[in-house]
Amino acid sequence: MSKSYRVAILGATGAVGTELLQLLEERDFPLADLKLLASARSAGSSLCFKGQTLTVEAVSEQSFHGIDIVLASAGGSTSKQWQRSIVEAGAVMIDNSSAFRMDPQVPLVVPEVNPQAIAAHQGIIANPNCTTILMAVAVWPLHQIQPVRRVIVSTYQSASGAGARAMVEVETQARAILQGETPEAEIFPYPLAFNLFPHNSPWNEQGYCQEEMKMVHETRKIFGTDDLRISATCIRVPVLRAHSEAVNLEFDRPFGITEARGILGQAPGVKLIEDWQTSHFPMPMEATGQDDVLVGRIRQDISHPCGLEFWLSGDQVRKGAALNAVQIAELLVDKPVSQGSARVPSLARTSQV
Ligand code: A2P
Repeated sequence: MSKSYRVAILGATGAVGTELLQLLEERDFPLADLKLLASARSAGSSLCFKGQTLTVEAVSEQSFHGIDIVLASAGGSTSKQWQRSIVEAGAVMIDNSSAFRMDPQVPLVVPEVNPQAIAAHQGIIANPNCTTILMAVAVWPLHQIQPVRRVIVSTYQSASGAGARAMVEVETQARAILQGETPEAEIFPYPLAFNLFPHNSPWNEQGYCQEEMKMVHETRKIFGTDDLRISATCIRVPVLRAHSEAVNLEFDRPFGITEARGILGQAPGVKLIEDWQTSHFPMPMEATGQDDVLVGRIRQDISHPCGLEFWLSGDQVRKGAALNAVQIAELLVDKPVSQGSARVPSLARTSQV
């Protein structure tokens, strides 16, 4: 008989939390118990799981007793606040926040790329930034054939990356503008409906924002390479869900288009969408709700003999966050996983954080 596990979702009422709930159901994760945790604001509210109504609890010191896995998606400060309680309770936290991603003791994992990294966990495994995950899934299979030397990436990031309330804000702004009213912005610094602006995370002295630097540092950590040169421009666009990215890769030698197409066509977690006759390429609307990262417009870079360009769209709430976390949990419990993901041992940790 297969074993089952006691799982808690921290941030269960949020955009990623509700997706986590859906994925545990869809993928029939081996659950012995499921606990839904959020802030005191949501205590007593209910969510549906496998036809049953589950009550949301306010997270507390006692919440993690007897829990095996915590899927955390309630922001970095909440993850940091409960980290010790979770680890001391003997649970493994799969953390969707940026709080621990660059900690050398914390594995940063994309199951299609570095599943083996999980084995070194000490109670915390970090889920990478959403734009980084989508890019990593598409670039890794090419990098395996010929090392990528330089990446230039521009992102087109949807509102849902800023949480469930941000999606409501864009819808409200769109209605206001269509009625001739002045749109109000609260979550974002400016109205996003019918507009776009650079990602509003803090800037560094070189003019890159935090989101852009996450793509640099996290990709290097996931790929296990310090010398990959990356420059990112992250833009928020008035799309409700699913991010898109224009990716330019530079290799030492030319990368054949036919070969690249063949590799990406078979890569785990990637789906090729390329119909040049009808100009049908990846779109956020079609990526929404899909597990795969949609990739297309693969072409030679006419400005560089060793350059390759492509375009991708991926559901960042799903593969960029919740699905990636559930895939990590599946690796932890050794549930049969999709092709291309290695098996790694267990909930056992190397030592306590
Ligand atoms: P709540 O609904 O009670 O505010 P999103 O990223 O979509 O905004 O969702 C954030 C999630 O994190 C929600 O489930 C939210 O719960 C939860 N959350 C936010 N702050 C805290 C906190 N201090 N403690 C526990 N959960 C929190």
